[in-house]
Amino acid sequence: MTEPLGGAPARMRRLFVRTWGCQMNVYDSARMADVLAPLGYAPAETPEGADMVILNTCHIREKAAEKVFSELGRLRALKERRAAEGGRMVIAVAGCVAQAEGAEIVARAPWVDIVLGPQTYHRLPEMVARAARAAGAVIETEFPVEDKFDHLPEQAAPQGVTAFLTVQEGCDKFCSFCVVPYTRGAEFSRPAAAVIAEARRLVAQGAREITLLGQNVNAYHGAAPDGAGEWRLGRLLRALAEQVPGLARLRYTTSHPRDVDEELIAAHRDLPQLMPFLHLPVQSGSDRILRAMNRGHTAADYLRLVERLRAARPDLALSSDFIVGHPGEGEADFRATLDLVRAVGFAQAFSFKYSPRPGTPAAAAPHQVPEPVKEARLAELQALLREQQAAFNRSRVGMGIEVLFTGPGRHPGQIVGRSPWLQPVHVRGPASLIGRLAPVTVLAAHPNSLSAALRDQHETAAEADPHHHPNPEEEERIRA
Ligand code: 5AD
Ligand code: SF4
Repeated sequence: MTEPLGGAPARMRRLFVRTWGCQMNVYDSARMADVLAPLGYAPAETPEGADMVILNTCHIREKAAEKVFSELGRLRALKERRAAEGGRMVIAVAGCVAQAEGAEIVARAPWVDIVLGPQTYHRLPEMVARAARAAGAVIETEFPVEDKFDHLPEQAAPQGVTAFLTVQEGCDKFCSFCVVPYTRGAEFSRPAAAVIAEARRLVAQGAREITLLGQNVNAYHGAAPDGAGEWRLGRLLRALAEQVPGLARLRYTTSHPRDVDEELIAAHRDLPQLMPFLHLPVQSGSDRILRAMNRGHTAADYLRLVERLRAARPDLALSSDFIVGHPGEGEADFRATLDLVRAVGFAQAFSFKYSPRPGTPAAAAPHQVPEPVKEARLAELQALLREQQAAFNRSRVGMGIEVLFTGPGRHPGQIVGRSPWLQPVHVRGPASLIGRLAPVTVLAAHPNSLSAALRDQHETAAEADPHHHPNPEEEERIRA
């Protein structure tokens, strides 16, 4: 090792990280910045002039993967310019494209220095040192036996009022269409004690809301703190609610319907900190397609589950992912999806055209659906989902709700926060409320957000503009 890992940091270097894909990648990007901080790397806003650029990639759909190659093309020019100036830009490709297509990356973009899979981030400092010496690219896409969480630094940059905490990684479900079991590997859960300790640390750094993350988070089965057996997610949520003072809100994502157990439903019933919003992907409403997808549940199973969850927590709002045009999906199957959407009434949802991923069973299946059919179905589904989201947002108007304020709004005197249902809420109010919960009255609904007035300033409510249009960037972020 040629670089100091502890003590006084080396000379200041600039690190630019670009992240695609899921919240897990956002969390991982922050962890990569944490492991590089002791080497003197400080965050940069742009790749121009950076000493190191990390692309943290997503392989879930073809479009996401292709973006990486076009970004690498742009970076090549920056790297050459930097070399002409006598400097060096180290380019690393991390994440699921790196895991799945490491060899193709170095073949198509030989100016890449490091390729690392999601399980090897703790080895990044060592790889940077090796890349300084190596002639070709340094590639690490194994699933190492050591637990990366044991090797990541405890000293992490604060995440702010709302924080993410990875409790589980990987997936053993093998849905027909999905690359995750191949790129993220087998299911792994962190011990409950480590999760509770990290939650305490996050709260000490100012977090009031924590979202537990996992590719399949409710498959969680981490070692119990006393060493006696394992805890499931419901038990973990209960411990966090009871044992972490100052933690006002809890969420978890993403879940699988098959892993919702009694204990988890009870957590929704009993824990006021557990927010009444659940992302529970169903993917399709057709039993035939659900079977082809290897989902392990029917549409009726899903509807029954939603009923049980809503019985436990009547104000629970649901969100889902949908795929249209999975191989074999006929018109009647698609209609069944629309029927399920109507039966549930979603507060929010993500929907995608099926995108064949190399190496997955569905990519090789017969009866691929033509692109124009996928497009038409996606448009129809999204219109319905948009309508449901607008209806849900409208149903909040006039309600008194609690908002956790997270930052300044776009206009002076405005602040923005989150509703219990994850909607951005804009109000007029003092910056001193940022980081705190306060009651508001919802005045108006927008496609992806709400406007409200602080409750104890009710007399000024009339001043707040119900026709106010929220920051379009904020809307984009939520829809992304
Ligand atoms: N094509 C389209 N959508 C996909 N997803 C996962 N794999 C594919 C694919 N091959 C969607 C699923 C999943 C979400 C994260 O991405 O809906 O829940
Ligand atoms: Fe992919 Fe299915 Fe696992 Fe979700 S449950 S990560 S869709 S294989």
